[in-house]
Amino acid sequence: ISLKSYNTFGMDVPAEYFFSLTNETELAEIVAAKGFPKTRKILGGGSNVLLTQPVDGLLLLNRLKGIELLKEDDQNVWLRVAGGENWHDVVLYTIEKGWAGLENLSLIPGTVGAAPIQNIGAYGVEVKECIETVNGWHWGEKAFVSFVKDECRFDYRDSIFKQKLKDKVMITSVIFKLNKKAAFNTSYGAITEELEKMGVTELSIKAISDAVIAIRRSKLPDPAKIGNAGSFFKNPTITLAEFEKIEEKHAGIPSYAAGNKKIKLPAGWLIEQCGWKGYRKDDAGVHKKQALVLVNYGNAKGQEIWDLSEEVIISVWEKFGIELEREVQVW
Ligand code: EPU
Repeated sequence: ISLKSYNTFGMDVPAEYFFSLTNETELAEIVAAKGFPKTRKILGGGSNVLLTQPVDGLLLLNRLKGIELLKEDDQNVWLRVAGGENWHDVVLYTIEKGWAGLENLSLIPGTVGAAPIQNIGAYGVEVKECIETVNGWHWGEKAFVSFVKDECRFDYRDSIFKQKLKDKVMITSVIFKLNKKAAFNTSYGAITEELEKMGVTELSIKAISDAVIAIRRSKLPDPAKIGNAGSFFKNPTITLAEFEKIEEKHAGIPSYAAGNKKIKLPAGWLIEQCGWKGYRKDDAGVHKKQALVLVNYGNAKGQEIWDLSEEVIISVWEKFGIELEREVQVW
């Protein structure tokens, strides 16, 4: 089976075995099946992965569905959402219900099960802020397991599921703790600008969601039209001392305080400064409006996107002495 329609980069690679999982109870059954492949990979929305070669073993599509209100009190609701639910649909559902917390994370492609893996974040909010527990299936233990927030080791675009538990645990559901009373986060400059443009005078989670949707639509390529996996690289964090040195040579370099005498730099800016924005070679390119996003205009191979990312990393290293790290998972 070709995985072309299962990854947003649109890479046409085959999987040896393919199974679309719609019920948790099937996990124990397929593991017990004769000849169960030793290796397996999971795809949700396929929106944070670059496929560069055929997938050996089993490709499991997480299509577990369901949203369940577990409990509520005066201030909060606890919601269990199955891993195969579409992320943005769930965000819209919570906004409709008036439950706050996820509004800044509107329109992020992918599924609920993938969200904790890289602790998705946008416009001043990271998903960890609303996560109480992550439930999964442990392939080695052949059992369901649970991780409370602290055990997930959430960090910027990172978690235990991307590190120690990589390929070991499949996320089956996530328990979110949402707020009945919103604490609006408009710390990201672009949001306030957009709200003003929209003529919003009274903040609401719906207004913030609408603003985020508008910003994302204006900057980020729609994977349904141009293949991509969002930010291809992480924004690098350096020390204040390193930053001061770089600033001597590159006056006006944008930066954000990241606490603990650390500075975060926008990788998109660094890449743009190296002249890559809008670059295209055959069908592999750097997005015109956001240099952090690599794109497939049609028939680029995973290897071509990878090669382009190597070139970008090298040129940023040569100009700034900063080593960019890939954010997408490369298979
Ligand atoms: N910039 C440029 N040129 C570019 C792109 C960005 O100069 O081509 C500079 C601008 O100065 C801009 C700053 O970078 O003000 C920040 O850009 P932007 O607001 O677009 O955010 P980002 O840092 O490039 C991060 C996330 C995005 C997330 C946005 C908004 C990472 C790796 N990326 O991008 O996440 O949507 O912030 O919060 O942290 C994703 O992970 O797939 C993703 C899209």
